[in-house]
Amino acid sequence: MGTPFISLLEPTRLDGYDRTKPHTQQPSHIPPLFIDAMEVRETVFVTEQQWPLECEHDADDARSCHWVTYASVNRTTRAEVRDPTTNEVTQPRQSETRSMPIGTLRIVPFPHPPHPPPGGRYVDGELQQEADDEVHASPADERRENADMPFGNDRATTFHDGREPYVGVGRVAVVPEFRGHRVADQLWAAAKRWLEENPAYFNPSVSSLGMDRLEAAAATDIPKWNGLVCTHAQEAVVKVYQRWGFQVDEGMGKWTEQGIPHVGMFMRLQVKETDPKI
Ligand SMILES: CC(C)(COP(=O)(O)OP(=O)(O)OC[C@H]1O[C@@H](n2cnc3c(N)ncnc32)[C@H](O)[C@@H]1OP(=O)(O)O)[C@@H](O)C(=O)NCCC(=O)NCCS
Repeated sequence: MGTPFISLLEPTRLDGYDRTKPHTQQPSHIPPLFIDAMEVRETVFVTEQQWPLECEHDADDARSCHWVTYASVNRTTRAEVRDPTTNEVTQPRQSETRSMPIGTLRIVPFPHPPHPPPGGRYVDGELQQEADDEVHASPADERRENADMPFGNDRATTFHDGREPYVGVGRVAVVPEFRGHRVADQLWAAAKRWLEENPAYFNPSVSSLGMDRLEAAAATDIPKWNGLVCTHAQEAVVKVYQRWGFQVDEGMGKWTEQGIPHVGMFMRLQVKETDPKI
């Protein structure tokens, strides 16, 4: 593998993206980097892990930052041909080098819907309400679950007091043939560096959203990010996140998404104190 490089796409409108179709059949105005991220995500989550294609693109994609790792990959476009009697090359091999997207990761800003309830079962991104269960969302949680800006309090867990704004790391994926080379570590290093350099980037603006929408009664309630990062990790890859400094949040419990067991993990980045955006 040549030296991979990483590119960033900041939040952008993705209107017109058709989530029922693969990345190869999207409108031409969709940014190429996002198409590349979807190429990786479709390979990993849809083809390998068998998630439905429609679940792969969601409303968080437009408001998230996306990082994509590219590797220079050389492939044969026309095979060498030899004369069978003389063994001389009659047509030389032709090849092309392509920057191939091999890994991706996104950072989702706050606010987030409520923490998944312990024992919850998500199918196609929707929490299933079991007939006989203890897993019932409160009316406040249901309202936040369906809100486009789900500000408001959450339940407290081991590492989250239920109030503090946090960003989410998600859709971490490396295509199978490039695994085991710490590609995901490099993606996280790029995202972490960016977060440390831009701690106020996701702070919402009071003048454009208003105090009510921010669920802020006083100036001290105006949400601002102070370095807290969460991930919903597939249990099988907890070790990768632990290496990055995340710890499993026992209080958040376990839940399943498309039948895959998940746990919550948190870490805190040391970031400069910022002022809320007025
Ligand atoms: C999780 C993932 C992004 C890690 O990417 P990566 O760049 O290969 O990460 P690493 O190189 O650090 O390898 C991580 C572990 O994968 C294992 N691994 C190594 N080579 C591998 C390979 N060819 N195929 C599968 N796993 C491999 C190793 O156990 C390694 O652990 P180690 O720390 O003991 O060496 C990648 O495995 C992936 O895309 N998995 C499927 C999608 C997924 O589960 N995403 C997380 C959602 S929460």
